[in-house]
Amino acid sequence: MKKSKKRKWINEFLKDKYVIEANRNGFRSRAAYKLLQMDEEFGFLKKAKTVLDIGSAPGSWLQVIEKRTNPENTKIVGIDLLPYKNLRSVNQVIGDFCQSSTQLILKKAFDERKIDLILSDMAPNLSGVAVVDSAKVSFLIGAVVEFSVKNINSKGSLVIKILETGSTGNKFVTDLREHFKEVWIRKPEASKNSSTERYLIAKTLK
Ligand SMILES: C[S@@+](CC[C@H](N)C(=O)[O-])C[C@H]1O[C@@H](n2cnc3c(N)ncnc32)[C@H](O)[C@@H]1O
Repeated sequence: MKKSKKRKWINEFLKDKYVIEANRNGFRSRAAYKLLQMDEEFGFLKKAKTVLDIGSAPGSWLQVIEKRTNPENTKIVGIDLLPYKNLRSVNQVIGDFCQSSTQLILKKAFDERKIDLILSDMAPNLSGVAVVDSAKVSFLIGAVVEFSVKNINSKGSLVIKILETGSTGNKFVTDLREHFKEVWIRKPEASKNSSTERYLIAKTLK
């Protein structure tokens, strides 16, 4: 990044209201507010007794999950390629979610029980080449949907981040509607306007 661009980025970061709030409230990143805002609308955390957070580093969604569930009787598992400072009630798995060996570890972590809530905030490293990035995003989303359909509780909820390139958002909605009774697409206020990210929320397997 050029020096002037970097300075502009740092200035914008320091002025960002969600960065300020995250620092004040002890969240590891501003991303916490995206989950908080979606949970305000859908209330999926209150009922969940088993939660899988895919792409969980540095752990701000996990902090929200700990706050909004009863960690005493909730099984919380976080998976990421990268290690990060663990949280008290979280079973941390480090690995590539897309590998079947990692998915076996995750299933074992839940004692092969169905999962009430699956969240994915996974994002690939983007190359800037639209067709390559679109394929990477589709691959990650496909892996999450395939795993979720097999392992989610029939009344469970799924939240997946998508990065929209062209009409891909609609395609993912159509795919999810094949498996889930209700599907919504949201861009929480905390998600930057400059980002193409959206979240799909799906409830109740067909
Ligand atoms: C936007 S960050 C997640 C932020 C997190 N929700 C939080 O609130 O702290 C996206 C994460 O996805 C992870 N990721 C990308 N591809 C992955 C994969 N194949 N398996 C596991 N994690 C992956 C990245 O390492 C990165 O930490």
